Amino acid sequence: MASWGITRTKNIDDVVTQNDEDGTDEPGKPRLARKLTVLDLMGFGIGIVIGTGIFTLTGVEAKTHAGPAISLAFIIAGVVAMLAALCYAELAAAVPTAGSSYTYAYATIGEIFAWIIAWDLILEFALGAAVVARGWSGYLQDVFNLPEAYFGEESSTVNIGAVAIVLVLGLIAAAGIQEAKWLTNALVAIKVSVVVFVIAVGAFFVKVSFYKPYIPESRPGKDVTELQQPLWQWATGADATAYGVTGVLVAAAVVFFAYSGFEAVSNLGEETKNPAKDMPRGLLGTLAICTVLYVLVCIVLVGMVRYTKLSEGAPISDAFDQVGLGWASILVGIAAVAGLTSVLLVELVTVGRIIFALSRDGLIPKRIGAISAKTHSPSVATLSTMVLIMVLAAFIPLGTLAEMVSIGTLFAFLVVSIAVIVLRRTKPRLKRPFRMPQVPILPAVSAILCVGLMTNLAVETWLRFLVWLAVGLVIYFAYGRRHSVLGLAGKNERDTVNARA
Ligand code: ALA
Repeated sequence: MASWGITRTKNIDDVVTQNDEDGTDEPGKPRLARKLTVLDLMGFGIGIVIGTGIFTLTGVEAKTHAGPAISLAFIIAGVVAMLAALCYAELAAAVPTAGSSYTYAYATIGEIFAWIIAWDLILEFALGAAVVARGWSGYLQDVFNLPEAYFGEESSTVNIGAVAIVLVLGLIAAAGIQEAKWLTNALVAIKVSVVVFVIAVGAFFVKVSFYKPYIPESRPGKDVTELQQPLWQWATGADATAYGVTGVLVAAAVVFFAYSGFEAVSNLGEETKNPAKDMPRGLLGTLAICTVLYVLVCIVLVGMVRYTKLSEGAPISDAFDQVGLGWASILVGIAAVAGLTSVLLVELVTVGRIIFALSRDGLIPKRIGAISAKTHSPSVATLSTMVLIMVLAAFIPLGTLAEMVSIGTLFAFLVVSIAVIVLRRTKPRLKRPFRMPQVPILPAVSAILCVGLMTNLAVETWLRFLVWLAVGLVIYFAYGRRHSVLGLAGKNERDTVNARA
């Protein structure tokens, strides 16, 4: 195996020096610009996190799995996300790099695992962007009563709304981080104001009787096919149930989607003015704010409307309709459109950074990840993924694809949790401006919880995920392994030693 070179690791000190020096591996070449502050990081973080999860999944999961305990499901998912955020904070402060978990894996468990992680992240962000674009188009259709055929989920063949929004935001993302930052901050301000409005105004309509029973008694769930069952149920042959404690856990796995994306902040390590201090604050701050907002929205929502009467498509705006505040439901619709726009924009920015990191390491052709001298951004990477996402968004329905994003995110969190433990052992002296407490216990708990939530996802999601990974491995063996900068450097060294001998 070693002779194949697939488990070669990068020297972490080289990664730190390389990024400190010029942001590229070739001095004199255009580099990423260090312009972001902690507030900008939180803007990007909240920009990508608050989206489809809170605006739609809340209703479906409260109604079908958790009941009023949907707030508990969000707390469980939030705890898993917070543990992962602590791992990311330690690594992102010590090794600020555009590749984030990909680079951490490269320096700890080896090239092939790093490639798998990067491939997984492309799935999370590119597929996530396509899903969110469809959701965006659906909300827009709802607010402005646009034709179902071109904007809606059911009857459209080519979703024009989704394609158009990816095109516009892809061009902005390719124009540079400054432009993306201003638009993101504006959209985040609108989105957060409306979420706070939902909590403050909705609280006046809460009926305490709707909270009882907090966890509805477990009962047989609706029949699903074998492939639609959660993995653990399929493996143990247990019957499908709704509500009860298992219902809350299934809801937690699904609403985990709502937290996905905060780790994108760690991809901006090479563009942050003071990453050692600001990365941990940006990551943990983002997650703390989102968790508090999510839990409060859930508490208010199931207090305004009995969980059995929640709408599955647009639960929050519908709740305001049900209590007689029709004007507020339009406001919520607009916030959802703004919210989803920022999720999409940050996802497009992030995919570009991951591709940049891969091409810098030679695992994909260099020209694809080149930094443009004009925009100081990986514009070619952003524009090419934009085209791919446009095609996906035009044809693939929203549906269970959100679960694909959850499994991809949880898998990345699993690797990052392991990377923290491995790096503490292999590089005990690495300068760590932020140290996760209780290592190795807490990262180990984080890894176990990630796997636990993953087993609550459907068998078909696991199968799709495995197919995606298999395609990635074919690309790695056909191209990446042979063109790897690390591999070529090792080969040159070996050739020199052999020549001398
Ligand atoms: N966390 C993001 C959302 O909920 C992906 O839309």
